[in-house]
Amino acid sequence: MPTIEERKNRHIRVSLEEAVESGVSTGLEEIHLIHRALPEIDLEEVDTSIRLFGCRLEAPIIISALTGGTEEGKRINEVLATAAEEYGIGIGVGSQRIALEDPSREPTFTIVRERAPNTLVIANLGCPQLSLGWGVEEARRCIEMVEADALAIHMNPLQEAVQVGGETRYRGILTRIRELAEALETPIIMKETGCGVSAEDAKRIEKAGAEAIDVAGAGGTSWAIVEHHIAREVGDKEREALGKALGDWGIPTAISIVEVSQSTGLRVIASGGIRMGLDIAKAIALGADAVGIARPFLQRAVEGLESVRSYILELIRELRTVMFLVGARDVEELRRTPIVITGRTAEWLRMRGFNPESYARRGKR
Ligand SMILES: Cc1cc2nc3c(=O)[nH]c(=O)nc-3n(C[C@H](O)[C@H](O)[C@H](O)COP(=O)(O)O)c2cc1C
Repeated sequence: MPTIEERKNRHIRVSLEEAVESGVSTGLEEIHLIHRALPEIDLEEVDTSIRLFGCRLEAPIIISALTGGTEEGKRINEVLATAAEEYGIGIGVGSQRIALEDPSREPTFTIVRERAPNTLVIANLGCPQLSLGWGVEEARRCIEMVEADALAIHMNPLQEAVQVGGETRYRGILTRIRELAEALETPIIMKETGCGVSAEDAKRIEKAGAEAIDVAGAGGTSWAIVEHHIAREVGDKEREALGKALGDWGIPTAISIVEVSQSTGLRVIASGGIRMGLDIAKAIALGADAVGIARPFLQRAVEGLESVRSYILELIRELRTVMFLVGARDVEELRRTPIVITGRTAEWLRMRGFNPESYARRGKR
């Protein structure tokens, strides 16, 4: 069995070297913002800032949980946290399990708060650890380690099912979430990792006391495909085949944003295949409060700080321009802008009892 360190290094290497994007799309290409020939605002007055978990962000962007625990992870976290602080965007750390088991690895996570003293920092722990008995004490240690503003608990049943030696006990997790929500002052974000969250699960999560859901829908990095490549490398033919068969599994991101935002009053972070500023604008118009981006930031971080900086600037420039073109002065106005939902996404939503037409008629008199 590989050590956690070996597994983490492999995840990063495979994510960088192999084609690990899901074969299904996010559905965002079926979301259409409506151009305003007369936006009746100046580009200059567009304000992309938001408030989330008590923090002000200059743009509704979070660097999604990626890494920590290894020397390479520390370097990546340092670069990403430096850029997050400079541009006032949020950052999540990777699973802190490794540092809870071996405190000598804490500096690979604490570097994030050192480099990002003022911006939103999100701690990270997995459902598999909760099902093995971890609880309030471990969650508190994760939060304190990075002085986190929120705690993400990742849900990754598909990855664990495909991963060699994965932890597939998911029974009773909602009870554990309820215990955490009652004991902790820090808000809890329930975060998928590439398969999306349904309306039914979102309602259960809301009842359990979490404050937010990060949908991490299908259409971006596919963990079944990542684990498929790893299984191939280690010669596990059964898991190699399983990962390939389920590579496109999940609820596409655009659909999951609607399922969650229409069914709960929770804050919604949209992630899974968010790549450009236009994707951010569409996700917010669909009902998200902010977006998360993972693999593109990993790719940029290994290239260096300049590459991360230019990517963030590109995302914000594009988002601002799109906001101008739909006449949205701020993110709240963008959330109310009319959109047209077409094709498979509209069909899915209709069959699930949502009304895609209502988005097209927003703001019409
Ligand atoms: C190398 C790598 C490591 C990751 N590690 C974690 C993790 O420790 N905890 C977590 O919640 N998500 C983790 N993720 C999942 C991402 O946060 C994100 O949900 C997923 O990759 C989908 O976003 P994307 O399409 O922008 O990559 C990881 C992703 C990558 C690529």
